[in-house]
Amino acid sequence: MLRDADVLSLLLSRQPGYSLEQPFYLDPGLYDSDLRHIWYKDWLMTAVSAELPKTGSYVTRQIGDYSIIVVRGADGIVRSFHNSCRHRGSRICSAAKGNSPKLTCPYHQWTYELDGRLLYAREMGPDFIAADFGLKPVHCEEVAGLIMICLAEEAPDFAPLRAQAEKYVGPHGLKDCKVAFESTIVENGNWKLVMENNRECYHCAGSHPSLCRTFPEDPNLFGGADGKGSPPLENHISKCEAAGLPSKFVMADDEQWRFIRIPFLGNASSYTMDGKPAVTKRVGNVPFDEAGSCLLYHFPNNWNHFLSDQGLIFRINPISPTETEVTTIWLVNKDAVEGVDYDLERLTEVWVATNSEDRAIVEENQRGIRSPAYVPGPYSPVQESGVVQFVDWYARTLQHRLTGRGKRGLIAAE
Ligand code: FES
Ligand SMILES: [Fe+2]
Repeated sequence: MLRDADVLSLLLSRQPGYSLEQPFYLDPGLYDSDLRHIWYKDWLMTAVSAELPKTGSYVTRQIGDYSIIVVRGADGIVRSFHNSCRHRGSRICSAAKGNSPKLTCPYHQWTYELDGRLLYAREMGPDFIAADFGLKPVHCEEVAGLIMICLAEEAPDFAPLRAQAEKYVGPHGLKDCKVAFESTIVENGNWKLVMENNRECYHCAGSHPSLCRTFPEDPNLFGGADGKGSPPLENHISKCEAAGLPSKFVMADDEQWRFIRIPFLGNASSYTMDGKPAVTKRVGNVPFDEAGSCLLYHFPNNWNHFLSDQGLIFRINPISPTETEVTTIWLVNKDAVEGVDYDLERLTEVWVATNSEDRAIVEENQRGIRSPAYVPGPYSPVQESGVVQFVDWYARTLQHRLTGRGKRGLIAAE
């Protein structure tokens, strides 16, 4: 089992442009480094506003060793707390989701307000100061219908992402959407293999017959990793920008997230088998069906497709060195009626199939990497530049945090 110093030396001897050494995908110690230095430090996509429609709506999440609650307060604000009672530590909420006017610990009934203040603790004596025992907060931000949390003591600056999310995601009106369907599958693969697989379409033609009906597998059409593309991509971006939809490629300074609006293939406008919209009521104020897909990628745990008729939010959660949960949420206009404005199977079939195909791919990748014969192999500079971008971000970020050195110094050292 590797320690941080071993992880650092593996990072320092890494060959850029190649897949990672075997321990990155298997080793429990390395997995622990990933949790402590990436997952417990970065902003994570955690929920959508539509999952918390009213006061007291909550969801719980398990991220590594942390159990957290995300709850909407009486003031409408979404907050997050550690799901650990300030009395003797019991989990307060055990359900995955629910609605409750207060948060009451099941052990001895300490009762907290939705803003985390301790309201009631029975027979704690005259010197007990309830104000000292509020729930421990977790950084939480709600923007354009998306909810993100950060477990770090000091969270990275959220303002740049907030500004772009408002611009790019805002027009899709996710706040006025409802969850039409949610699926969670477990892939028997390391979380980085799930992300790597997501960041390329080199595998699409061989694996995704349904998705390939509408999604452009050509990196020139989806902007690869740097947003540079071909005339059809540029034309699509210009057309959408002219209609008031922010669409140009934009990326975080440290490459942790990126937005771009891409066209579908041919005349398609949604991820359906025939390419026609899945929902007759458009979302937000998207002006036409042919707006393509606004992509948002956010490392380490999220990618999204915002369409004219739906929002697709994917988030991953590591559950062991070789197991990763993948959750997909389909959002539609909250006034759309199932069976009238959309058919649930038609809405979900392409991505249900694609997720299942990707699970098989990731699991085969994991099995092959387990072999003592595995050695890192080269990424395609044409087809896998998005994977290179992710792996470079991961390696740079982990190295930075393991050494405690500034980002600038690190980049210079590379
Ligand atoms: S542990 Fe929660 S009330 Fe005792
Ligand atoms: Fe795939």
